[in-house]
Amino acid sequence: MQTKLTFAPLAGIETEILAVLAADTQTAKGSEAKAQPVLLTSDEAVKSAASAVLASGEYKAAANEMLLLHAPAGLAAKRLLIVGLGKQGKATVDKVRSAAGAAVRFAKPRGIREVAFALPELALAAGSCARAAAEGALVGDYDPDTYRSDREDKSVQSFTLAVAASADKAAVEASFAEGVIIGESQNFTRVLVNEPGNKLTPTMMGQRAAAMASEVGLAWEVHSTEKLHELKMGAFWSVSQGSEEPPALIVLRYEPKGVTDGPVLGLVGKGITFDSGGISIKPGQDMEKMKYDMAGGAAMLGAMRAIALLKPKVRVICVVCASENMPDGKAQKPGDLQTAMPFSSDKPGKTIEIINTDAEGRLVLADGLTYARQLGATHLIDAATLTGACVVALGMVNAGAFSNDDDAYAKFNAALETSGEKFWRLPLGDEYAEMIKSDIGDIKNTGGRWGGASTAAEFLKVFADETPWIHLDIAGMAWVEDTRPYIAKGPSGVGVRSILEWVRSY
Ligand code: BES
Ligand code: MN
Ligand code: ZN
Repeated sequence: MQTKLTFAPLAGIETEILAVLAADTQTAKGSEAKAQPVLLTSDEAVKSAASAVLASGEYKAAANEMLLLHAPAGLAAKRLLIVGLGKQGKATVDKVRSAAGAAVRFAKPRGIREVAFALPELALAAGSCARAAAEGALVGDYDPDTYRSDREDKSVQSFTLAVAASADKAAVEASFAEGVIIGESQNFTRVLVNEPGNKLTPTMMGQRAAAMASEVGLAWEVHSTEKLHELKMGAFWSVSQGSEEPPALIVLRYEPKGVTDGPVLGLVGKGITFDSGGISIKPGQDMEKMKYDMAGGAAMLGAMRAIALLKPKVRVICVVCASENMPDGKAQKPGDLQTAMPFSSDKPGKTIEIINTDAEGRLVLADGLTYARQLGATHLIDAATLTGACVVALGMVNAGAFSNDDDAYAKFNAALETSGEKFWRLPLGDEYAEMIKSDIGDIKNTGGRWGGASTAAEFLKVFADETPWIHLDIAGMAWVEDTRPYIAKGPSGVGVRSILEWVRSY
């Protein structure tokens, strides 16, 4: 998708479709209160083209409600699309993001390859809206049907954001360019998450990460079995030992010139390219979905791509632990005892009693977190499709977040304002830590059914040690199960935007 910006009047824009937002200004409540839709533009030509239909009462400007006019009078555009934003008083930047996505997804199935989108004139910062519109358009343009033999590429080829000439042009331009990078990075993640397990083994995930890193100028290393043994990554290896496919330990580094002190942010991702459960094998129902069990790792790679291109002044190191989790003669068994990676010679690795081989994500992350600390990370964030319990708790509405440090979390919470992503902080606590104590070793890898998202987080906390750390459980949010107007069913790319904003806040 090509993205452009124009400050020209809307009436003169020659395009297949011009999308303009509308909002409902009715403030009274109740069924008697009729919708009062208004266009969110001061452009007289557009207002006049839409005046009759807005006066008709047929259109209410509800969220993502669409209305299409062909050959609108007085406009150079072939079609005028009105996209509803809902109540004007409740307009947010995130709703602008969705509206841009919805406009693009309206065009796609109709074979319309060119969209112009009028930036709504709202009491919101124009730059924030421009950025969100670019993100929404790119995210909306993605469809997961890569392997369909009769696939027709219906991508929108050109997306033009039209902004009022009175706006701060330099600010809008900069924000729009950022939005393009961020939307493309989120889609980079979605492409990876969409790949079936046989099309994206740990080795291939390493190759994709390396290719991306080279392209955007990040330093990278991809290691495998030997390095895991050398570092004594007993927790990570315990998962990989049961697969014919070798693991990949992916390390990316962002080292901006001239930045030699200050924090080093460590981004750690779960990259299970297929999770069968191992010997504690999962039921067959829905097992195919476990190809997306690398979504946390992919989110970190997408965030790193955006970081490399947006160049914040902070050092970042990314560790993705990629592996399959398979049952095999060599696979680990419930009851086995594993020793995690030692941090240093005077800090030996913790011993872990394996209760359930399906609790594999925390095992690979344990060593990933220790390794990131050993490489110098002063602050940690991890992302993982970690627990079904988190999905039970929060549904497919919020992702879970945990932290051992209120300052680091406050920054993450602030980042959510910009990213528009929904995370909900869940508790850690000694009582949860108690539930994962082992009788024969230091800890066990599951704490039973109750509080499963929190006991999993407590397990990871052990490996973050004293380092400020945030854990994101994205199990319920990494895959969109129902079609929405602004995003395709399939991989969501959740986390990329929030992790990026968190990094930029340092
Ligand atoms: N990858 C799964 C978690 C998951 C569930 C991701 C649903 C996406 C959607 C994870 O490895 C897992 O199997 N967790 C177990 C842990 C249990 C054995 C303690 C779970 O949640 O059931
Ligand atoms: Mn599992
Ligand atoms: Zn898993």
